[in-house]
Amino acid sequence: MLLSRRELLKKSGALVLGPALLSLTACGESRSEQNAQQEAQSSANQASSPADTETSSSVSATENSASTAEANSKATDSAAQTAAAASSLVLYFSHTGENYGVGYIEEGNTAIIAKMIAEKTGSDSFELVPAQAYPEGYDECCDVALAEKNAGERPAYVGDIDISPYETIYVGYPIWWGDLPMCFYTFIEAHDWSGKTVRPFCTHAGSGLSGTVSSLQTACAGATVGEGLSIAGTTAQNSRDEAQAAVDGWL
Ligand SMILES: Cc1cc2nc3c(=O)[nH]c(=O)nc-3n(C[C@H](O)[C@H](O)[C@H](O)COP(=O)(O)O)c2cc1C
Repeated sequence: MLLSRRELLKKSGALVLGPALLSLTACGESRSEQNAQQEAQSSANQASSPADTETSSSVSATENSASTAEANSKATDSAAQTAAAASSLVLYFSHTGENYGVGYIEEGNTAIIAKMIAEKTGSDSFELVPAQAYPEGYDECCDVALAEKNAGERPAYVGDIDISPYETIYVGYPIWWGDLPMCFYTFIEAHDWSGKTVRPFCTHAGSGLSGTVSSLQTACAGATVGEGLSIAGTTAQNSRDEAQAAVDGWL
């Protein structure tokens, strides 16, 4: 039986996100073994505390998509210009709009961490922007993301970057349903990862890395995947000093 988030909240007194929700849905029947393993790992993690998010959409999804696409294209240009100088890249996905525990955000939680890493390491950056923008509303975004995951979709993204010049790639993403957002796999599968050092980092709402380090090890064939960094989205958004300390300690 599929419980809505509100029903789940009422029943449990706590808003349990993605992985725990997955265990309550019929979609488990079509899960891969890998996803089931991730769920088991995720379920062991602490559930998220309840948080009512506020909806105040000041930028339409279309405008948001257009501006991030433009920013991405600038990032691509900038990365191309400086590729000779930097040996590391911060590759990340982050979603703005309504998000868990932080209300409506103009800068995504993972983007905040990605910028800290890029600044500290002098890396180039590339933001993975989906060609089809995800809904700004949290529940709507969750529904789209879950449908994509269950269908094993590989959504298109805007622009691209040649990763061959980079030895180390910091790979950053929000945990979505106990996994990486599906468009991350689109990118990974379109590039050659052999010989790369991958350093995964995520933001989340209680699931931690949720098995994504081993997912990346499988997906990024030939790469060495290092220890992951997980930071709560609320910490990234609201406690920058704490987040920076976690980043510094991990680097
Ligand atoms: C579609 C969707 C699915 C999510 N699934 C999970 C989850 O399974 N586990 C978890 O801890 N947090 C989950 N979250 C919360 C995000 O991981 C968390 O808010 C993260 O910090 C968002 O980062 P961003 O602002 O960079 O997108 C989910 C959020 C969304 C929008």
